[in-house]
Amino acid sequence: MDGGATAVARAHSNIALVKYWGKRDAALNTPAVGSISVTLDALYTDTRVTFTPGLAADEFWLAGCRGPVTRVSHVLDLVRGHAASLGLPASGLNAIVSSTNNFPTGAGLASSASGFAALAVAATGAAGLTLLSRELSILARYGSGSAARSIFGGFAEMHAGTAADGSDAYAEELLDQGAWPLAVVVAITEHGEKSINSTIGMNESKATSPFYPAWLDSADDDLAEMRAAIRDRDFTRLGELSEYNCLKLHALMLTTRPALIYWNAATVAAMHAVRALRAQGVPAYFTIDAGPQVKVLCLPGDAAAVQQAMTLVPGVHEARISALGPAAYRLE
Ligand code: PMV
Repeated sequence: MDGGATAVARAHSNIALVKYWGKRDAALNTPAVGSISVTLDALYTDTRVTFTPGLAADEFWLAGCRGPVTRVSHVLDLVRGHAASLGLPASGLNAIVSSTNNFPTGAGLASSASGFAALAVAATGAAGLTLLSRELSILARYGSGSAARSIFGGFAEMHAGTAADGSDAYAEELLDQGAWPLAVVVAITEHGEKSINSTIGMNESKATSPFYPAWLDSADDDLAEMRAAIRDRDFTRLGELSEYNCLKLHALMLTTRPALIYWNAATVAAMHAVRALRAQGVPAYFTIDAGPQVKVLCLPGDAAAVQQAMTLVPGVHEARISALGPAAYRLE
């Protein structure tokens, strides 16, 4: 790694309360619908990027093992393009990228979100570029749609945008990390890699599910209602809408051919356990992405009780409490 320019960044994972599924443009990786998420303090990726003279090709190392480099190189190519326009030396150099996650990779805990957000910040830093958060969000989007939101802390909204070049498909912060403290209990039901990659799943849903047009048509209503719930600090409304939007997404997935069934038995048991908690008077609401893990939204004072209830669900290996997390940042 001698002689190169290095930067290290940390980005936190996020979980969408109003989710995106479907691409508007595959090459630009723009989403078909907007989304709203919370950034999670307890789950993060650290990434080091070194632009290295004499290196024959980009290298990507994940937890010390060689990882898939294609999407990483795509983001690095965009950074090299920016660097070239400013005459910076990184424009002509390949890079060594090494990342570590403090949580299981590829199992529906949004490692691609934190991973590509950390890459965007570290790679631009190592190249000597100073980008606006909005530009970093667009850069992260090319790696993974949800990564555009992990540039920000607290509550973030991703815009689907309409521009032909994708320049208005970025996330922005709705509320910062401290503005409305909430907790998310992450119940891990499986440590393995997830079965179907989200891009492939999205394309299959678009091509085959009769629910896909309804999913697109109803997205703006959910986004408007979620913005209002966040503005009013209305946790019941936020939680009910999150659960509804999650189940609507999974109805879309289940009606895709072949069906996208991301749940296992423990996922379903955890959903029932959350509803049972609610029946006992604990305001708690689940949400689930393209994987088997269950994330439970609750108030910070209820987090320990929710964690305890999740740990008792058969098949739940571990339940972690997270507060809302910060924006992505440089570590040096
Ligand atoms: O970030 P991607 O392109 O892998 O897709 C994420 C899709 C969901 O996690 C299911 C929803 C979302 O908005 O995060």
